[in-house]
Amino acid sequence: MTSNTGLQLVNRDEGGVDLAFRADVLAGLAAPQKAIPARWFYDDVGSQLFEDITQLPEYYPTRAEAAILAGQSGEIADLVGPGRAVVEFGSGSSVKTPLLLSAIQPSAYVPLDIAGDFLRASSAALAAKFPGLPVHPVEADFMRRVELPVEVANLSKLGFFPGSTIGNMIARTATDLLRSMRETLGEGALLLIGMDLVKDEDVLLAAYDDAAGVTAQFNLNLLTRINHELDGDIPVGAFRHEARWNDTFARIEMHLVAGTDVTFSVSEQTFTMRAGESIHTENSHKFTIRSSQTLLAAGGWEPRARWTDEGKQFSLLLAEACAPRSAP
Ligand code: AVI
Repeated sequence: MTSNTGLQLVNRDEGGVDLAFRADVLAGLAAPQKAIPARWFYDDVGSQLFEDITQLPEYYPTRAEAAILAGQSGEIADLVGPGRAVVEFGSGSSVKTPLLLSAIQPSAYVPLDIAGDFLRASSAALAAKFPGLPVHPVEADFMRRVELPVEVANLSKLGFFPGSTIGNMIARTATDLLRSMRETLGEGALLLIGMDLVKDEDVLLAAYDDAAGVTAQFNLNLLTRINHELDGDIPVGAFRHEARWNDTFARIEMHLVAGTDVTFSVSEQTFTMRAGESIHTENSHKFTIRSSQTLLAAGGWEPRARWTDEGKQFSLLLAEACAPRSAP
């Protein structure tokens, strides 16, 4: 796959294997605590399962964030002002992007996504919903600074990063991302970012281990994907999904736990696991007022406003790019 900037986004071998996927899986399975980065959940099946998760009764974040956007649209519009280019980190497939775009009178919409097909489909859907709004999709890895289209060069920017996706990163990666967002968006930019809040452990655990078992399918699909794409023979049925609350890091962790001793191979490498041993597949950090402000500040963003839903489950923050400084 090649981006519109000529950048090679996915490197494949002659057999079509995604080399970064293989490298992450082989390194992750060889580590003492086996771990695979959560970004590999999202093949076509995994992306659909995630959409299904957002509809589950236990999974409150999507509903809570949409309720904030709908309920606070007037105040958000006042603070943001009209005429900005909205730059969304990830292409908006959900109801949230239309809620924001209808609230604030933007001059352009620029979705950034590494998944080109998904980006094109969601951009077309948005363009149809907002006929007068110029839409400039950019296929890029937004973990690094992205060159925005010339058409929006002179517009001030509003970054949009909903869903608490920032919570899927450890602090160092999240800070790096916030910094590159600031570089991408430039001086005077604002950022509207969703951050899920620390709450009752039972509510959190239910959100990541729902009664219908959709999150379990989402987690286990990673093993199926490895088997298909990396010539694996992992006995998927020997694994179970587990969600754990890690209080030290204020995060939900998802693991795939082996129910029995297992031996399997992936890309011609053999791995063994003891019964009870796990593969760590996701972190979903939860924030407090303090921890969200600290993270934003570390990434070069000064919080300007903060809203929560009625149940105080989720927060949406508006922050402004601040000049780098080394003194108080
Ligand atoms: C995409 N991300 C913000 C979701 C979350 O809540 O951390 C992914 C997810 N994992 C399990 N359920 C949802």
